[in-house]
Amino acid sequence: MTPPVSETSHVPDRPLDPDLFIPSGDSVLELAAVTVSRGGKELVREISWQVREGERWIIMGPNGAGKSTLLQVAAARLHPSAGMVGILDEVIGAVDVFELRPRIGLSSAALATQLPENETVLNAIVTASWGVTGRWNEGYESFDEDRARDLAAQWGLEGLEDRRFGTLSEGERKRVLIARALMTDPELLLLDEPAAGLDLAGRESLVSSLTELAQDEDAPALVLVTHHLEEVPPGFTHALLMRGGSVVAAGELETTLTEQNLSETFGVPLKVSVTEGRYTAVAA
Ligand SMILES: Nc1ncnc2c1ncn2[C@@H]1O[C@H](COP(=O)(O)OP(=O)(O)OP(=O)(O)O)[C@@H](O)[C@H]1O
Ligand SMILES: [Mg+2]
Repeated sequence: MTPPVSETSHVPDRPLDPDLFIPSGDSVLELAAVTVSRGGKELVREISWQVREGERWIIMGPNGAGKSTLLQVAAARLHPSAGMVGILDEVIGAVDVFELRPRIGLSSAALATQLPENETVLNAIVTASWGVTGRWNEGYESFDEDRARDLAAQWGLEGLEDRRFGTLSEGERKRVLIARALMTDPELLLLDEPAAGLDLAGRESLVSSLTELAQDEDAPALVLVTHHLEEVPPGFTHALLMRGGSVVAAGELETTLTEQNLSETFGVPLKVSVTEGRYTAVAA
């Protein structure tokens, strides 16, 4: 089989034979010609992409572009129909995904719906240690609970630890999801639209927390999916733009989030401006 054609410096040129596919040393995530098909439709088409240690990626694209599907593949929740996936030195298909998943933090709207409404905030965070969404009889160590409390405090949830998840505001729920995703001290953190549904103050507060996380050298490699340029936290380093399941552009943030690339991605002519590291876009 022919190797995928390199389109940008971030598209690896890798063999597609599983025995020959060895994720490169500093890569946290490596996709080679990944396709996901459902019902005769290709939701993600031949995507090759590499995320290295310390990188902070934005994935952007219109509704239905395949962003969440791609993130499910990166989270070892979905096997590709074709292509190779390397995550944290492991190759999907040759690794027990249940061992791999705790090393990957994931926050998504789909996960939020699985968290029981009557579970406490602290339990919603700590249950990530066991990869479950509701607390039953698992024995958590006190250091797990201490870590969950620290994460709650770090993500602006102090004083809400005993509140029921179902009573939280949308902004508080989003913060619980991120704290939960960080519970296992993951090496890769995937956030699918963490600011969706937030009001302006909530969005700005979350962007500022994510900016801090992006600038933390000890933080895991980050991938954040969003529709909105305004939600790109300063400190993010790379971007992958998708449309119709394919990559429009990928690479370093400043050279990728251009008017031309974004206009092509969203299918409308856009005027893009950057002020103090924050992006905005309006119709041209
Ligand atoms: N199981 C499935 N069977 C058929 N089509 C599916 C399936 N799951 C998703 N799709 C379709 O795949 C496409 C990509 O979906 P995906 O959720 O990845 O898009 P997205 O970029 O995350 O969109 P959004 O911005 O709205 O969240 C959509 O058109 C969706 O309807
Ligand atoms: Mg989505």
